[in-house]
Amino acid sequence: MPFVKVGQLSALSPGSVMEVQVADGTYAVCNAGGEVHALDGICPHAAGPLGQGALHGTTLVCPWHAWEYDCRSGVNEMDDGYQVAKIPVKIEGDDILLDIG
Ligand code: FES
Repeated sequence: MPFVKVGQLSALSPGSVMEVQVADGTYAVCNAGGEVHALDGICPHAAGPLGQGALHGTTLVCPWHAWEYDCRSGVNEMDDGYQVAKIPVKIEGDDILLDIG
């Protein structure tokens, strides 16, 4: 599948995260100090909405029970046996595009 536009960079300030829906998927798009990363938006713990969580540096914190993920890799920072899928991101002008495969 080609890259799909999901939002605008000007609406995602550094240090913030947003939840986007594409087709049947939910994704968390993070702006970590100017670098944009995207992860699958469903927490492996109990399906919490990662895109509604908080971003601290490069750490994305699930809003339900505070599991922490590295937004650059999707790996859980407390137990690397848990991981969410990393989604390729492309920035074109002000557009944020995801390759949801
Ligand atoms: S659902 Fe994410 S930490 Fe529990």
